[in-house]
Amino acid sequence: MKKLYTLLFLLAALTVHAQVNPKLQAKLDQQAAGMEAKVIEWRRHFHESPELSNREMNTGKYIADHLKSLGIEVQYPVAKTGVVGLLKGAKPGPVIGLRADIDALPVTERNSLPFASKVKTTFNGQETGVMHACGHDSHIAIMMAVAEILSKNKNDLKGTVKFIFQPAEEGAPVGEEGGAALMIKEGVLENPKVDVIFGLHIQSGRQVGSLSYRAGGTMAAADNFSITVKGAQSHGAYPWMSVDPIVVSAQIITGLQTIISRQTELTKDAAVISVGRIQAGIRENIIPEEAFFAGTIRTLDEAMQDKIHEKIKLTATKIAESAGATAEVVIRRGTPVTYNDPALTAKMIPSLIKAAGANMVFNVSAITGAEDFAFYQKKVPGLFFFVGAMPPDVDPNKVAAHHTPDFFLDERGFLTGLKAMLNVTVDYMYMPK
Ligand code: NI
Repeated sequence: MKKLYTLLFLLAALTVHAQVNPKLQAKLDQQAAGMEAKVIEWRRHFHESPELSNREMNTGKYIADHLKSLGIEVQYPVAKTGVVGLLKGAKPGPVIGLRADIDALPVTERNSLPFASKVKTTFNGQETGVMHACGHDSHIAIMMAVAEILSKNKNDLKGTVKFIFQPAEEGAPVGEEGGAALMIKEGVLENPKVDVIFGLHIQSGRQVGSLSYRAGGTMAAADNFSITVKGAQSHGAYPWMSVDPIVVSAQIITGLQTIISRQTELTKDAAVISVGRIQAGIRENIIPEEAFFAGTIRTLDEAMQDKIHEKIKLTATKIAESAGATAEVVIRRGTPVTYNDPALTAKMIPSLIKAAGANMVFNVSAITGAEDFAFYQKKVPGLFFFVGAMPPDVDPNKVAAHHTPDFFLDERGFLTGLKAMLNVTVDYMYMPK
């Protein structure tokens, strides 16, 4: 199998080599290197002044001002605090969307960096720090540099670049719309119509200087479900007088596990069902009338996703029925699968190799976390890849995960991300159609 992958990899690399002439490539590489310090400076600025989802007022304004200073046509605000920039190349060609997410998280930073966040706020009624604990600060900085470099090379661009600086990737506050879905609703993929979209995510747990990708399902669809089991109440001493919703719930939860372990073809793709909440009863000797539990469903393939949803309904209602109870199942679809178009992915591998070197580009396993870039990929083909930012001397098993107070990025990874984003954009423009 490994040989087959290597072969595919080489084929992909050979079929679409050298989209851009070496002179332009050298210029882009040089300009990227020349902007590295600026990218780090911008990143530190955003890191020090993080803003929560749908509250990225200063962040959005800062980005909009930068794009305007480059002579890029700017739409601001979009989807509350987002920024859309349009850069038209001198020559005709495709419309390429480049997306960076811009929001921070309610996490209190524990790093002692000079630019560590000291911002505090109230979130869901609790006092909390605010921190760019997922690295979106680096995404903004990289994309601002991409915009600056591409605007300098307008005459060599074949087509149009649409810069999409998107708020609320982490999810809008309760009761608010936001994120990629709202950007799309407000027309970000239209006028001009976006043909293809690229996005990246920095990773604290992968080697600095590396790039990683996966064709097909890359990050999971995240759907929620809740199940209410209704039985009949009785004294705990006389269970035969009840229809016990707690025992029925326990059976359903066990039954749900067999959907993944016995009924899902796991060699195709991974899938997860986790129950994270359960509630029933008020006193130890009363069998209650009702029980409630809720969980999350993670899938990487749309057909599997639909099938698992159906099986959850079937398993819950039939187990309940067998006990004389009822189960009401509610499934809410959330973020779709982050699906990298396989043909597009194969075409862009050489662009990643040019940025990081062949020995630093990795074909990786899927992630069961979700990413709202997926909403764009439902509409247009897209590629979402990963940029390593783990210091070389660190044990990968001890790295602080994303969304945690010690989350840390090795800033030397940003240049690789910048080069990769420039390469996929310009190479795509020069690709024979
Ligand atoms: Ni993130």
